[in-house]
Amino acid sequence: MNANLSEYITKYKDMIQDEFNRYLRSLNTHPRLKESMLYSLEAGGKRLRPILMLASYEAYGQQIEKVLSTATALEMIHTYSLIHDDLPAMDDDDFRRGKPTNHKVFDEATAILAGDALLTYSFEIIANDSLLTAEEKVSLIQMLAVCSGPAGMVGGQILDMGAEGRPISLEEMERIHALKTGELVRSAILAGAMLGKATDEQLEHLTTFAYYLGLIFQVQDDILDVTGDEEKLGKPVGSDEDNQKSTYPKLLGIDGAMKQKEVYVEKAKDALEKAGAVNSVLMDLTDYFSNRDH
Ligand code: IPE
Ligand code: IPE
Ligand code: MG
Ligand code: MG
Ligand code: MG
Repeated sequence: MNANLSEYITKYKDMIQDEFNRYLRSLNTHPRLKESMLYSLEAGGKRLRPILMLASYEAYGQQIEKVLSTATALEMIHTYSLIHDDLPAMDDDDFRRGKPTNHKVFDEATAILAGDALLTYSFEIIANDSLLTAEEKVSLIQMLAVCSGPAGMVGGQILDMGAEGRPISLEEMERIHALKTGELVRSAILAGAMLGKATDEQLEHLTTFAYYLGLIFQVQDDILDVTGDEEKLGKPVGSDEDNQKSTYPKLLGIDGAMKQKEVYVEKAKDALEKAGAVNSVLMDLTDYFSNRDH
């Protein structure tokens, strides 16, 4: 990773962490539920979705505070999706973000509820954000609900579960990946650009950019599940094989998956250029998403 990007990521990661502290410490709820929510939020995580949202905002807008709460809310939705994804009924994984999974430390019921709580609290945070207009709130809530819900991430997760143990086509896999991972990536990019007042035409090209960036992210996740370092990843490798998941390496082989990733990178960069954001941090983040080792 280049030094500037690394600095950028660290700076914004810290800002997001401060937001978590602010929102979670002041939350009035059952202590065990709060502990469980905080456990997964503070276990670490790369914070790529909020960083993507901040970078997307900065490609068009100037006042970064405007987008901070929404970025935090998105990371809460993502963290909820991971807690549920790791449950025995789903991927049944014991490690996440370098620590035992939520249901291992607490119990399954608490983990399910911590996920539910993070999801709903994220919408409360946006609804209460005094820096947003009423219209902006409705647009953001609508977008995050669509992207994380039945026609978005949750829709992708059920397709992913249904594709275990049977061969699928590249088209079907693209669809699963675009939904289960791509939709939250899309919400990050579009929410940021929308608040930054990008034009409709720019938003259209960013939608294409986000589609390919989501695929790049998940191809790399699949590759790392085969070739990655468990220590660096903070989650088990070989989980996909154990669960007979349909992945890019399984369908195309590692080399084929890498080649496919390069095709997506080309298309993502082309769309970014058309969106007038080729000189933004989004360009560096595209390479980072593609080459990350954790
Ligand atoms: C993991 O996402 C889940 C996928 C969508 C592939 P990340 O790799 O962004 O996980 P954290 O947030 O850094 O833990
Ligand atoms: C999960 O995909 C995507 C989510 C919506 C959470 P994976 O099941 O591949 O994510 P990891 O590998 O467990 O992080
Ligand atoms: Mg999964
Ligand atoms: Mg998983
Ligand atoms: Mg995975």
